[in-house]
Amino acid sequence: MHRQYGPIIRVAPDEIAYAHPDAWTDILQTKPGSGSSGLAFPKDPTWWAPLPGVPPGLVTFVDHETHALIRRQLNPGFTSRAMSLQEGTVHTYVDLLVSRWRDAISSSSSSSSSSSPSGNDHGNGNGNGHDQSQRGGEVDIVRWFNYLTFDIVGTLAFAESFDCLESGQYHGWISLIFNTLKYNGVMIAARFYPALFTLLGKLVPDPMVQAQKDHDALIEDKVKRRLGLNDGRLDFMSTIQTAGIKNLSDDDDADEKEKEKGTGKKVMSMGMVHSIFAQLSIAGSETTAMALSGTVNLLVHNPEKMEILVKEVRARFKTYEEITIPAVKELVYLDAVLREGLRLCPPVPYMPPRKVPEGGAVVCGRRLPGGVSFFFFSLSLLPPFTSSSPSPSFFFPSFLLSLFLSLLPSNPLLCLSFCIFFFLFSFALTRKTRVSITFNAMHREPTSFHAATEFHPERWLSKSTENSESPFYHDKRHAWQPFTLGPHVCIGQNLAWAEMRLTLAKVLWSFDLEAPADKSKHVLWESLRVFLLIEKKPIAVVVKPRSSSD
Ligand code: HEM
Repeated sequence: MHRQYGPIIRVAPDEIAYAHPDAWTDILQTKPGSGSSGLAFPKDPTWWAPLPGVPPGLVTFVDHETHALIRRQLNPGFTSRAMSLQEGTVHTYVDLLVSRWRDAISSSSSSSSSSSPSGNDHGNGNGNGHDQSQRGGEVDIVRWFNYLTFDIVGTLAFAESFDCLESGQYHGWISLIFNTLKYNGVMIAARFYPALFTLLGKLVPDPMVQAQKDHDALIEDKVKRRLGLNDGRLDFMSTIQTAGIKNLSDDDDADEKEKEKGTGKKVMSMGMVHSIFAQLSIAGSETTAMALSGTVNLLVHNPEKMEILVKEVRARFKTYEEITIPAVKELVYLDAVLREGLRLCPPVPYMPPRKVPEGGAVVCGRRLPGGVSFFFFSLSLLPPFTSSSPSPSFFFPSFLLSLFLSLLPSNPLLCLSFCIFFFLFSFALTRKTRVSITFNAMHREPTSFHAATEFHPERWLSKSTENSESPFYHDKRHAWQPFTLGPHVCIGQNLAWAEMRLTLAKVLWSFDLEAPADKSKHVLWESLRVFLLIEKKPIAVVVKPRSSSD
């Protein structure tokens, strides 16, 4: 749609989607000195508020104040200092991944292989030995990167791994999360039609209700075990543990607000802690795993870029043990590859809507109304909102009206009741202007990026950013915001960068990666569907021990 109608379009009577780079700061960033009118736009509760019966967590707090209190409290577990203390955990699981891939290679190579599959033989630069150099095994990178990131997050959140890498399979709880995401997507969509939402809520099958209960019980157990540990570690739970957990119901804490404001701390209820940690487990693993999968998929289909990256990694590190998080940060081509991977394969594909605040606000140079919005009924179909169309303060749900007109019964009384129902229903729908950003559209906008749909890590190198002769010189790099901006900016980006850099460096130091010869196994990222996050479809990659010791 953006390709057809431009970077600013009306996608629903009360929603505008942006692929214009200025939208990031206009919508998401607090403008200092502007008082309450300069606050970042609040999250739209239709999308973000927790489902009934689920206490709110960091992601689902829609009011700025409570969110800020919780966020401040969690922050110390995510700083660069925390990251340096957590480096050992990341190494442990990346090493395990490398070792499991060696196993996968040796089991798919002939059983006569002389190598030791579990051996920690990283030191000599020759992988499992020259005799295996032409062999290889196929791995599903989506699964393996998910195993890796879930194990890391499990350890940093609950002080216990999910043991996915060890067992070579998803923990039952994780498979459940993937299904729950689809279910949540449907339930959130249904919230746009309140009657349907109530009906769907009642139709949830018993096994799903039971599965949800098992899921809650598992989180409760993990949180309880972690809170029982007092060994001074700095992980995601440390500061919550120090502040203590309130023995209150989740609705019961309004009276505590004033006290909390004074201390700048939020004493959370146990229900909130469970929600926060369930959300962290998904937000902290699924995203990094998909970013790695998308990037490696691009690399194996662009062998000339892969070659440059492999050379950079192997030239910088003579031994596997030299690969550390501070050292991989210095690799400029690796950084460029990951940026380009995040541009083309953003693991959070859609920034669910924010609301225009009371009093209205300006986005990309146009004023949008806040508060209650009235709309006209008109029989003409409005074009999508573009920079030349009128202010969207007058919404017209024309497509809904057309649909209703075609369905109207011939009985005049029934017809009248339908019209009244429709009027009230539509009125209820258009409370506020919603604004949203689709990462894929924003990151592939041809007015922002040269050769926008192609994989060119070079666009991020200084030879492009500083040389006006480069075709990428005029790229609007600020359109790239895979972690977003403002008060809700991804809290885990230090960890995400560390995991992505370390994993790619260690994997490419140890192995040669290729696309499978069988083209039916090739996956086009754009073909993957989205259910809040990106669907899990296997991506096969051929892994061989590195062929040279360079
Ligand atoms: C490549 C990896 C990652 C990407 C691209 C990513 C991207 C994002 C995005 C787009 C948001 C939404 C921000 C908004 O609503 O404006 C977000 C929020 C969040 N992310 Fe990440 N993320 C990644 C990795 C992680 C990791 C490793 C963790 C934790 C261990 C994490 C934890 C969170 C949390 C808790 C939030 C909610 C923050 C809030 O609402 O205050 N993410 N992330």
